[in-house]
Amino acid sequence: MSQLHVINHPMIQHKLTLLRKKETGSKDFRELLKEISLLMGYEVTRDVPLESIEIETPICKTIAKEVSGRKLAIVPILRAGLGMVEGLLTLVPVARVGHIGLYRDEQTHQPVEYFCKLPEDIDDRLVIVTDPMLATGGSAVDALTLLKRKGCRNVRLMCLVAVPEGIEKVQAAHPDVDIYVAAVDEYLNENAYIVPGLGDAGDRIFGTK
Ligand code: PRP
Ligand code: URA
Repeated sequence: MSQLHVINHPMIQHKLTLLRKKETGSKDFRELLKEISLLMGYEVTRDVPLESIEIETPICKTIAKEVSGRKLAIVPILRAGLGMVEGLLTLVPVARVGHIGLYRDEQTHQPVEYFCKLPEDIDDRLVIVTDPMLATGGSAVDALTLLKRKGCRNVRLMCLVAVPEGIEKVQAAHPDVDIYVAAVDEYLNENAYIVPGLGDAGDRIFGTK
């Protein structure tokens, strides 16, 4: 069964509060989201396997740890998921990046796919899907379904703010996918926005409203 990891480290909570404030502008929003993504990345990658290798320090030979062959891919759901990529790349600079373009239809709130470009060997990688907002869960479920169709078997979902119904929808459709969030908020309003949330993440990142 999929596990929910709520990463409530004080530094993440503090930065999330700044993100939520309506007066936080796009430049600060992007910087904070990058910082939080890097910090959350520690938890998302906590169990990647290590192997022992022999190295030589200036003092002597020794056995040290390095991340074993397992390759990583970061797949943001456009647009807002892009805001979490740079932080993760700071942590794992050799990761490949794929893109899945989905937008929510404003009337039906259903996700519509408009773009998909993934690394060729995506099925061979540990995939971290990023999207700051897990609202109805429709976008995440569709993105994960698409990745499964491409053969991905080892996928994690990294969001910032979620609501219980979105989490339940993802867990029901993809019980093998662990979900990482910084906060579980209260409910969705009549426009399927997270309450209290932080507003429209894509618009706040890119300054489009
Ligand atoms: C937002 C957000 C998620 C989706 C979450 O994207 O970034 O992808 O909504 O909602 P859901 O859980 O109800 O599917 P949006 O459709 O606004 O597109 P954008 O990122 O391009 O602004
Ligand atoms: N998408 C957002 O950007 N914000 C929400 O609160 C819900 C969906």
